[in-house]
Amino acid sequence: MKTILVTGGAGYIGSHTCVELLKAGYGVVVVDNLDNGCEEALRRVERISHRDLMFVNADVRDKDALNTVFADFPVDAVIHFAGLKSVAESVENPDLYYDVNLGGSIALCEVMESHGIQAIVFSSSATVYGLSSNDPIQEQSETRPAQPYGKTKLAVERHLEKLCKDNQTWNAVSLRYFNPVGAHPSGLIGEDPKGTPNNLAPYITQVAAGFRDKLMVFGDDYPTHDGTGVRDYIHVVDLARGHVAAVNFLAEKRGYMALNLGTGRPYSVLEVLSAFKRAVGEDIPYEIATRRDGDIAIYIADTAKAEMELGWAAKFDMDDMARDAWNWQSKNPEGYRVKA
Ligand code: NAD
Ligand code: WQD
Repeated sequence: MKTILVTGGAGYIGSHTCVELLKAGYGVVVVDNLDNGCEEALRRVERISHRDLMFVNADVRDKDALNTVFADFPVDAVIHFAGLKSVAESVENPDLYYDVNLGGSIALCEVMESHGIQAIVFSSSATVYGLSSNDPIQEQSETRPAQPYGKTKLAVERHLEKLCKDNQTWNAVSLRYFNPVGAHPSGLIGEDPKGTPNNLAPYITQVAAGFRDKLMVFGDDYPTHDGTGVRDYIHVVDLARGHVAAVNFLAEKRGYMALNLGTGRPYSVLEVLSAFKRAVGEDIPYEIATRRDGDIAIYIADTAKAEMELGWAAKFDMDDMARDAWNWQSKNPEGYRVKA
């Protein structure tokens, strides 16, 4: 059995990926400092998959702790989710984002190298492109992230690309996620934001659950079919399956590659809202507000390269995402704070 080290495995995307890895027969070791994840999520991962995983509470910047992990467990490859993800917070505190996201990734690669492990799947983001485009965005499109968060992701991508270029035995895939939403269909794991959600889907489910009055739709004057922002939303389980495909792909030694993970299907804010209305079975109050600073009109993935290289494609549509996100929210109104 091959063993995958999953940094940030107690978080939203990481926990769903652990389920898919365990289902695919991999052994899983999670390293997470629980800054934004929790052990309850890992217990539920074990419950869904009927298998155990290993958990080490450690910070990826702590090289001594990482050395112990690599000495204790027979790791074959790494999926690196651990990091900070708020664009707004990265503007307020860029040094923290460089320290955790870039510093943590460099530390991890150094420890991997010293233990002879040279295969990594990295959580990048569509934010690295930074520009609105009416056409689906291809991997070779210009990268010009506007905020520190996106800059840290691009800096890690470049670090990995250089490692692979300088050393033929290194293999790395950067997965540029578009907008992950939804939850595991069991309703046992999902997104558990702390405080007011920044992202659309968790905000909508909290309105639908009665925790917030109404959704503010940020702008209806964009050059899109209904004037609201258009994005490429991808079900978190599809995203998790994409990581298993990337780990399998790395086993064949490919050097460096960046791949988009999305569906290629555009949905406006009002269309997302309609899907959630269908899932909830009730109206969800909203109000049109001004544009949010830094937002762009349209952001859609060209998914052809990921589909070809990984032999993977997203299966779920927006109705599936809304159904599963609402199932998670309604079964876990307090997130992971109550044990299932
Ligand atoms: P998340 O916050 O739910 O998960 C991140 C996990 O990393 C958490 O469990 C947190 O405790 C852990 N962590 C943070 N800093 C750490 C550190 N220094 N050492 C060890 N563990 C640490 O976020 P997520 O939505 O699951 O995102 C996972 C990754 O995907 C992140 O790198 C994020 O930047 C990237 N990403 C997320 C999105 C999105 O919209 N959710 C989109 C594109 C990319
Ligand atoms: C989607 C659409 C908003 C909230 C962000 C990060 C990106 C990536 C994914 C990490 C936009 C509109 C939103 C609300 C709204 N994360 N909206 N009311 O901005 O595309 O991407 O998350 O890598 O880096 O920037 O996602 O979910 O915030 O917004 O009208 O209360 O919903 O204007 O059109 P975004 P989002």
